[in-house]
Amino acid sequence: MMRALLMAGMILTPMAAMADGLNGFVTRDRLPEPPLPVLVQGALVWEGTCQNCHGGNKLTGAPKVTSEKDWAPRIAKGINTLNTHAIDGFIGPKYTQMPAKGGNPDLSDDDVRAAVAFMVWVSGGQDAALAWAQETQTNSETE
Ligand code: HEC
Repeated sequence: MMRALLMAGMILTPMAAMADGLNGFVTRDRLPEPPLPVLVQGALVWEGTCQNCHGGNKLTGAPKVTSEKDWAPRIAKGINTLNTHAIDGFIGPKYTQMPAKGGNPDLSDDDVRAAVAFMVWVSGGQDAALAWAQETQTNSETE
């Protein structure tokens, strides 16, 4: 009986953790190393500019990376819409605000797009992020 309860606990805990994301504030070193150069670039940009809010700063209302609960409805908008919102800025239905380029005008549009793809990649949107990254890579090779 005790063992059955323990096992049920072991199975339930990681599932809950997946939906809500990692406990506590999420910094770059707690996240996996991405498989593609554009996502590695995104991780660097994320750490420099986006992590302050998107690591789990509840006061800002920013969706926390790794939280599929926070990200699934956003990923459903499509990565191109997320890119536009991240570059131009966006105010959500609860009047919480994503500042244009995370408030860092030194970032290029491509930097911001890479950071968005990285965030999506670590937050349950692997397929969408990888498809975007591969398309971007192909485009830059043919340019
Ligand atoms: C000052 C805090 C802050 C910083 C810094 C910040 N964000 Fe945000 N971001 C937010 C908030 C708040 C929201 C949620 C807005 C809403 O939907 O109400 C958000 C939402 C988003 C969304 C989802 C947009 C959508 O359509 O649902 C993306 C993508 C995003 N941010 C990307 C980034 C990227 C990339 C960076 C770094 C370059 C960044 N953010 C930096 C506060 C921030």
